Amino acid sequence: MSGLKKVAVLISGRGSNMTALIEAAKADDYPAEIVLVISNKPEAKGLDVARSENIAAIAIDHTEFDSREAFEDALHKTLLEHDIEIIACAGFMRKLTATFTRKWEGAMINIHPSLLPKYKGLNTHQRALEAGDTEHGCTVHYVTAELDSGPIIMQAKVPVLKGDTPDDLAARILLEEHRIFPLSLAKVCGL
Ligand code: GRF
Repeated sequence: MSGLKKVAVLISGRGSNMTALIEAAKADDYPAEIVLVISNKPEAKGLDVARSENIAAIAIDHTEFDSREAFEDALHKTLLEHDIEIIACAGFMRKLTATFTRKWEGAMINIHPSLLPKYKGLNTHQRALEAGDTEHGCTVHYVTAELDSGPIIMQAKVPVLKGDTPDDLAARILLEEHRIFPLSLAKVCGL
């Protein structure tokens, strides 16, 4: 027994937040190990990154299942097979049912690119700009049945600068995501 919490990272794309977690977990005093990466999109670049780090990386393609429940059953089974204790959603772009979130309540966290409770859902940077916000940011929170609404673990703010585009804001916030997601996972895993 290593005493480290076994973590699975769920992704759908490039996986830069996943990479930040993998890098942080290399530190001797980090309380978690990333043992599994699952993507609902087989083409996700993050799967290759995880494999290059010798981490089990599995695609569970949601389009191959008849229902959301059947997809989640496969997801849950795979997580149990790998003795996963904590799930980190890192750009995982599938809504999860209450049945699934209840099974993992208190053990599943998500990174969201806004200062929740502001701007749940998609297009957060565009919405912050349209609202004329002077600050924006990101939030790590526990996943509950209601989308982007679970208890907040950590937030980071960035300024909105004159002339910012959604891409400018996304890039500025991504740096903060890479900082607070590993810190939040460590906190959840008992640091
Ligand atoms: C991040 O901005 C995250 O907050 C959002 O999707 C993006 C994922 O980026 N939910 P990456 O795949 O971690 O690079």
